[in-house]
Amino acid sequence: SLPRLSDKHGRCVTYLRLSITDRCNLRCRYCMPENGVQFLPHARILSYEELERLSNIFIGLGINKIRITGGEPLVRRDCLEFMEKLRLQHPKLDLRITTNGTELVQHLPRLRKINIGGINLSLDSLDTHRFAHITRRDKLATVLSGFHMAMELGIPLKLNTVVQQDTTDDELVQMASLAKDNPITVRFIELMPFTGALVPSQSQQSEPLNLRLLRLFPGLTEMEAKDISTAKIYTMNGYFGSLGIIEGESRKFCGSCNKVRITPTGLMKNCLYDDGILNLRDLLREGADNIEIGKQITAAVWNKQPDGHQAAIQRPGKCENSMATIGG
Ligand code: GTP
Ligand code: 5AD
Ligand code: SF4
Repeated sequence: SLPRLSDKHGRCVTYLRLSITDRCNLRCRYCMPENGVQFLPHARILSYEELERLSNIFIGLGINKIRITGGEPLVRRDCLEFMEKLRLQHPKLDLRITTNGTELVQHLPRLRKINIGGINLSLDSLDTHRFAHITRRDKLATVLSGFHMAMELGIPLKLNTVVQQDTTDDELVQMASLAKDNPITVRFIELMPFTGALVPSQSQQSEPLNLRLLRLFPGLTEMEAKDISTAKIYTMNGYFGSLGIIEGESRKFCGSCNKVRITPTGLMKNCLYDDGILNLRDLLREGADNIEIGKQITAAVWNKQPDGHQAAIQRPGKCENSMATIGG
């Protein structure tokens, strides 16, 4: 069998983010334009058979955690069937999903049945009007039904709240109250400069997010990290859950990065900010066998750049893709 995935800087890669679609039923302002989004034609995106084969190859190379993302993964037909197949073949795989929650209610029973490791739920505001403003869709109530049902089913939840320039203190406090009353983590995320998100960098903002959270929640106590993560997690006195911050722009995670990504078209990315370093779809469709594909993945991961964040800052043109095609 092939050796586990690692790079020449001594990092082990054990976490695969699989973006299964670029489509989404929301239009978050920082992610997509309102109209005229050109979605990929089906022929260009990986079929579930191809995704399953790649997942098996990656698991053979030591990947032990797979996160299904999008776009919105649950809008792709048969997403659950695909996840069920993965689970059947890999009972111990840490299988997770990042979702906007609009399609959760109808999928939660099956997500629970496959023993989903956790759900990361994107939710930027608890105010109906603000939610509709940010996402350009009036679906807060639907998302909240999904949230409550997930709680009832005991599924581990992390909430992702992207903090924008016009996000108010009240909104942040309201979001945090969900972590006060429920055993969940509410993670506040720095808006990162991708297409549609032309934001001043954190360093130029009057109040950086980390200082803002300390002002709003003076009791924040940083927890020791359990595993490699982009988030710093804090406990708060009297909270059932916890708060977190993802300093996607101002802090670098590269030193401990354990991730590799696959885009809907089958490009493998060593970094959120690279353009794709291996075309897995072409390999699959040109008839390469699993051994050959595994070898090419291994070689590509070996060359993972030491600091993709720095490279992106130096070549800002590189951040043109939207999160919807990368999957975060
Ligand atoms: P966990 O497995 O729970 O740690 O998930 P995660 O935080 O890696 O994934 P999620 O899909 O919930 O993404 C949360 C936020 O983290 C999104 O805004 C992502 O874009 C961002 N993010 C994930 N990985 C990276 C990374 O390698 N670099 C940067 N800068 N941001 C990242
Ligand atoms: N900056 C930071 N986070 C983003 N997300 C989408 N676009 C951006 C951006 N420009 C978040 C979504 C979701 C996660 C996968 O990425 O809100 O929670
Ligand atoms: Fe959809 Fe997520 Fe982009 Fe919002 S941020 S439009 S939920 S893919």
